[in-house]
Amino acid sequence: MTADHYFSVRPETKARRRTVRFSAGGREFSLVAAGGVFSAGRLDPGTAVLLRKAPLPDAASRGPFLDLGCGYGPIACVLAACAPEAIVYAVDVNTRALDLVRENAAALGASGRIRTVTPDGVPDGLAFQQIWSNPPIRVGKADLYELLRRWLPRLAPDGEAWLVAGRHLGADSLHGWLVEQGWQVTREASQKGYRVLRVRR
Ligand SMILES: C[S@@+](CC[C@H](N)C(=O)[O-])C[C@H]1O[C@@H](n2cnc3c(N)ncnc32)[C@H](O)[C@@H]1O
Repeated sequence: MTADHYFSVRPETKARRRTVRFSAGGREFSLVAAGGVFSAGRLDPGTAVLLRKAPLPDAASRGPFLDLGCGYGPIACVLAACAPEAIVYAVDVNTRALDLVRENAAALGASGRIRTVTPDGVPDGLAFQQIWSNPPIRVGKADLYELLRRWLPRLAPDGEAWLVAGRHLGADSLHGWLVEQGWQVTREASQKGYRVLRVRR
């Protein structure tokens, strides 16, 4: 038995390495993942819906972007590949996840642009053009809301966040809560039980 969750800070389980292959934005990706990290066996279906349905940045986009709760980095890697000039902050509390993102970024030739950091490693005062997240719903509402209260205000004035959440995991109550907090929220897509939300000021 292990008390590990994918959002453990330092997973104790052995890091069985896996390769996760998927396509997004017309490109093929082959990323390393490992046990103790969220959805290490395959691209998470919610993340897949997000990357399919939300408009990926184009080559002219400079960011900076934030991948909030990056896991092994599928979203950060896709953003960095679509926008080769942009800086992408890949943030997670799980240090094994961050090690994997570093490896994946290096394999993409994007080490200098994908900044892998724990939450406190994001420079103060940096405003994000876009925040992307398949947020850690399973941490519970209180922690999820705290996380979003911390990071959504870091959007640039004209910035936007793209979030995905499962309907069975409370996507609609998350939507309602964001509106109550004063954000403009539109449900941009709904597929396979997942909602893609666009969040603006
Ligand atoms: C649903 S997973 C998504 C992972 C990855 N983006 C993907 O699509 O495969 C959510 C991630 O949020 C991370 N997380 C949990 N609490 C966090 C926090 N307070 N700050 C940043 N990341 C957190 C977890 O460790 C986990 O990797």
